Amino acid sequence: MKVNLIGRVALITGASRGIGRAIALLLGQNGVNLVVNARTEESLSVLKEDLNSYGIDVLICPGDLQDPITPSIIVKKTINHFGRLDILINNAGIALAKPLTETTVEEWDTMMAVNARAPFLLTKEAIPYLKRSDIATIINISSVVGTKGYINQGAYTASKHALMGFTKVLAQEVFQDGIRVHVISPGGVATSMVALTRPDIDPETLISPEEIAEIVLFLITHRGNAVIDEVNIRRSATPPWR
Ligand SMILES: NC(=O)c1ccc[n+]([C@@H]2O[C@H](COP(=O)([O-])OP(=O)(O)OC[C@H]3O[C@@H](n4cnc5c(N)ncnc54)[C@H](OP(=O)(O)O)[C@@H]3O)[C@@H](O)[C@H]2O)c1
Repeated sequence: MKVNLIGRVALITGASRGIGRAIALLLGQNGVNLVVNARTEESLSVLKEDLNSYGIDVLICPGDLQDPITPSIIVKKTINHFGRLDILINNAGIALAKPLTETTVEEWDTMMAVNARAPFLLTKEAIPYLKRSDIATIINISSVVGTKGYINQGAYTASKHALMGFTKVLAQEVFQDGIRVHVISPGGVATSMVALTRPDIDPETLISPEEIAEIVLFLITHRGNAVIDEVNIRRSATPPWR
């Protein structure tokens, strides 16, 4: 079944730039009304202007996901404005390039709060509304470090492993409610984050944020009997299964 997305509502975190912004633009083009979050209100306003020509409704919800109160505020605003929520995309994330011995407790906690705790809290808040949607979908943006371990990325790797574990249990717990849960785990993507985590990669070989957005659109629109739980994406320059 190919889903008609017109009039649906998606909440996307980390939508101000990079992968989140690309997802917002593609879903907007496909008629999805959007709730967009990031800390920087100005960048969200620019995104809203860029979405203007698609004739959709865009609600800007600036807020720091490190704060455990932010997820409930965002979901409340979403429901007050749209009265529904069909798709939750937990995309916001931060990285840290440091050996574990130099990682401070504050850095560890921040990484876990934004990359793992915020998706958990947003999901908890969103589930009662997602249950009412016939296309309910949660997509978590993990990383290759959700399953592998790269040196100097210990805290980031731990947070993405936490997100992976959370995703696997969540998918089973909401299965009977008809909520589909997917995780996308990309390798290096051409955003500001990759300059921090993988400055060694030739920029020419990076995945584009738009390529990740295409996969998100595929997952949301293809709601048949074939379900994809996990999508692992490598750069074409990386050998297969490595
Ligand atoms: N780039 C890669 O190579 C790569 C590879 C695999 C996975 N990923 C994952 O993909 C996701 C998106 O990353 P990206 O590459 O697009 O990074 P990015 O360009 O740095 O964008 C990160 C987004 O998250 C937002 N954000 C950061 N901290 C936040 C907070 N505390 N509260 C709310 N929003 C926050 C940022 O906006 P503000 O700064 O305005 O808050 C921005 O919109 C992340 O989960 C990342 O781990 C990236």
